[in-house]
Amino acid sequence: MARVALVTGGTRGIGKAISARLKADGFKVAANYAGNTESAEATAKELGISVYKWDVGDEAQCAEGIAKVVAELGPIDVLVNNAGITRDGQFHKMSAEKWREVIRVDLDSLFYMTRPVIEGMRDRGFGRIINISSINGQKGQFGQVNYSAAKAGMIGFTKALAQESAAKGVTVNVVAPGYIDTDMVAAVPEDALKKIIATIPVGRLGKAEEIAAMVAFLASDQASFITGATMTVNGAQYIAG
Ligand code: CAA
Repeated sequence: MARVALVTGGTRGIGKAISARLKADGFKVAANYAGNTESAEATAKELGISVYKWDVGDEAQCAEGIAKVVAELGPIDVLVNNAGITRDGQFHKMSAEKWREVIRVDLDSLFYMTRPVIEGMRDRGFGRIINISSINGQKGQFGQVNYSAAKAGMIGFTKALAQESAAKGVTVNVVAPGYIDTDMVAAVPEDALKKIIATIPVGRLGKAEEIAAMVAFLASDQASFITGATMTVNGAQYIAG
């Protein structure tokens, strides 16, 4: 029986590449999205996956959305917490709203999404939780105090939950992408982006497919001894110890 993978923010950018790769690897894929239904439906058709609209920063919507996925595709074996937003700006000018929105969508969502699926994974003796953090949660980034805090929080979440889940066949890992060629990175002001690319030793932005390849490996049976890890995929822009 094909395993079921749920990818949040799975219809665009890195999430779309993850959905496509897991589908190619034989998973039944459910992609959550928050935005444009028409374009999500087009992606569903293109990839041959199912798409579901809800806000991952809303506890009730997560519970309802996950129940719908389980009813239609079956219990979730692989959860990829990929959905995320930025609200960049220097901290001394940052509104509480910009702080709260990033923490809600990027970090609170880990509780809302993972809590409803973890018990079933433990009972069935198999599960994969893969959290998409960021280089900026590892090194910090000027203009991203909110995002860096949320993305670093994902790493602590992962390390603790990995220990609690290890004996039950459930692995919990982080993938920390560097700057990847997506709409989110394209939104960085041109001058700032030029300076950033100059600091990437590989000399280019990463590709969404390069993140998806790491996620696919962590989702596989081959990765059963890897848990609590942070897998850095950033072209040597930041070499984490
Ligand atoms: N280090 C030091 N100073 C910097 C700087 C840096 N990295 N970046 C900008 N500055 C300085 C500028 O030189 C300028 O200084 P002066 O005023 O002395 O000229 C000042 O900061 C800019 O201040 P502003 O008031 O104009 O701008 P702001 O407070 O609105 O902030 C910014 C601007 C948000 C920092 C903008 O430069 C920016 O967006 N930078 C990129 C942030 C970034 O990397 N975001 C990542 C998005 S992609 C992503 O998040 C995906 C992922 O996981 C990797």
